[in-house]
Amino acid sequence: MTSDAFLVRDSGPLHGEVVTGGAKNSALKLVAAALLAEGRSVIENVPEIDDIAAMADVAVALGAEVSRPEPHTIVLDVPPRLEVVTHPNLVGRLRASIVVLGPLLAREGRARLAMPGGCNLGNRSIDLHLAGLAKLGAEISYGADAIEARVDGRLRGADIELPFASVGATENLLQAAVTARGVTRISNAAREPEISDLAAFLRAMGGDIQGDGTSEIVVRGVDALAPAHHRVIGDRIEAGTFAVGAALTGGDVHITDVDPSHLHLPLEKLSQMGADVFATDRGFRVRGTGGLRALDIVTLPYPGFPTDLQPQFLALLSQAQGTAIVTENVFDGRFSIVSELERLGAEIELQAHHAVVRGPRALSGAIVAATDLRAGAALVLAGLAAEGTTVVQEARHVDRGYADLAARLTALGADVERRVDDRVAVSS
Ligand code: EPU
Repeated sequence: MTSDAFLVRDSGPLHGEVVTGGAKNSALKLVAAALLAEGRSVIENVPEIDDIAAMADVAVALGAEVSRPEPHTIVLDVPPRLEVVTHPNLVGRLRASIVVLGPLLAREGRARLAMPGGCNLGNRSIDLHLAGLAKLGAEISYGADAIEARVDGRLRGADIELPFASVGATENLLQAAVTARGVTRISNAAREPEISDLAAFLRAMGGDIQGDGTSEIVVRGVDALAPAHHRVIGDRIEAGTFAVGAALTGGDVHITDVDPSHLHLPLEKLSQMGADVFATDRGFRVRGTGGLRALDIVTLPYPGFPTDLQPQFLALLSQAQGTAIVTENVFDGRFSIVSELERLGAEIELQAHHAVVRGPRALSGAIVAATDLRAGAALVLAGLAAEGTTVVQEARHVDRGYADLAARLTALGADVERRVDDRVAVSS
């Protein structure tokens, strides 16, 4: 597959204001949740990214009419009956499409889904989704390329303890439980802000959900949901990516339309590394002061340090004074960026799920590849601090989750452009 590349030249400090888009990892699930109610739901502040387009295609394949009357708004007209089979081409594009399993079981009592795709992040199984749905009464069978699920009558509320606070499993179970008969208690539930956003949408549709944002969620099943109107929260990971860009380049950037409390730990880390970080009435501001200091990072489910900002912080730590240990606990494939950062001159040693970063090391432009969405964004940031030109190939991974990254960085003073990737080496 051909894909554009980013051409990034060493840029001075980033300056100015950037508006955060709606949260990808919330909007994706809200599109699925809209399928729970017949009629017209409206979702605002939806980011214009490839993953949302893929999820909208999944909703269409299941029978919904999807329109985008204006940028950032999705309207779903959901019919009385849904299709229950998804084609591998659609679902294969997007791992998050597994979250339609809960709504389909709730609405139609059966589903046949092709196995989900998405970023290549190592072992991303869905056993917790399936075990939880089985507790709610679903009978599930699966082969190499499809999952089949059905339930006799309605799903039934149950007590479910998740062995790991999985974001996707919590979301699927919430959507399945909201119209199940009786009460569902999800223990060790994920606490990410996107879970609370989904719960808020489900409540607006008439659902009875308490405890979202804590690890104990209680869902009292209601007979049916009604369509609703909802505005997606700001994307904390996109905001955090710009924040790292500001710190890395010694810039001064106001990042608006996001709740800084959703980034409590990453912003605290930036400030401990030496950046000035202030909350503002519209978001927060990061001012790089030069002389970054190394510190350790351990990724964990929220409110722990987000795995989705780990690659960006690896790039940042390569420019900090001292030795940092970065421990990845969520996705085993998340260090695929390390060899690419090394090509740029970073010194990083991998020891199982730890990366030891020794800094600062001068970076210089090279050809690297985005191995996944966050790695791609992190490499673009690293390119800003590398002498000469950095080519980040496979820009399509970045398009899955960041709208117009090159243009928005350019508006902050960076020298970044998109090129058709002709695989020709670029000299710096
Ligand atoms: N896991 C299992 N079994 C399951 C579910 C998860 O073993 O049934 C494991 C996974 O293999 C993984 C870990 O648990 O190692 C975390 O998985 P989780 O279910 O929490 O994550 P997810 O729902 O697959 C979402 C985001 C990710 C984000 C994680 C963690 C979406 C579409 N994706 O994934 O976002 O990293 O939560 O916060 O919401 C990204 O945006 O770049 C991205 C990868």
